[in-house]
Amino acid sequence: MKDASANQSAKKAAGEAAADLVESGMVVGLGTGSTVAWTIKRLGERTREEGLEFLGVPTSFQAESLAIECGIRLTTLNQHPVLDLAIDGADQVDHRLYVIKGGGAAHTREKVVACSAQQFVVVADESKYAKHLSHPVPVEVLPFALRPVERQLQELGGKPVLRLGKMKDGPVITDNGNFVLDVDYGRIEEPVELGARMSRIPGLVEHGIFENLDELYLARGSGVERIKRKS
Ligand code: 5RP
Repeated sequence: MKDASANQSAKKAAGEAAADLVESGMVVGLGTGSTVAWTIKRLGERTREEGLEFLGVPTSFQAESLAIECGIRLTTLNQHPVLDLAIDGADQVDHRLYVIKGGGAAHTREKVVACSAQQFVVVADESKYAKHLSHPVPVEVLPFALRPVERQLQELGGKPVLRLGKMKDGPVITDNGNFVLDVDYGRIEEPVELGARMSRIPGLVEHGIFENLDELYLARGSGVERIKRKS
């Protein structure tokens, strides 16, 4: 198992490398989490040092606060519904480039942003890369519909667990005011089919399986490998 500082430097390497994709004039989705935070910080540096001019669309309150702190100009999806690029982290990525996201409970906005972008890039350290997806799938749920959604996820073979707050009693509340269930399906053979089935459940706001990744920036060994989706 990697020590925490090695893991941090791998996250930094992957996050910073992807910041080179941004060019002046672009509108860019800014993801959530500790890996893409390095991308946002590097973009702030490029803005100050090189005069890079671009607009960011944050995927969460965390991404928005960090971008503001870094001096990045922001816009909204309603002003710019088509983005040039979105960069985000992941909880797990498999060899076919299917992704599980939502460890930070931000996957609903992250998916809207990623699906509005012409190019979707994920930054990750090697611990996130797996042959098959098996990480519990985060699912955002309307509080009103919690129990019926739980029941239907069990019917699909999942084991849902309500995500609880740390330093807060009771459930995690997302930026959209909803709950999160972490649903363990074991090894996921058909992520697209599973995602489609979950999407049909009324009251389920969004699940964390992403199927539109174009390129993975994966920190491994001493470098960052770029893995593109096979067309
Ligand atoms: C937030 C996410 C994050 O991108 C994901 O959890 C990875 O986070 P980190 O880079 O901190 O490991 O999906 O909802």
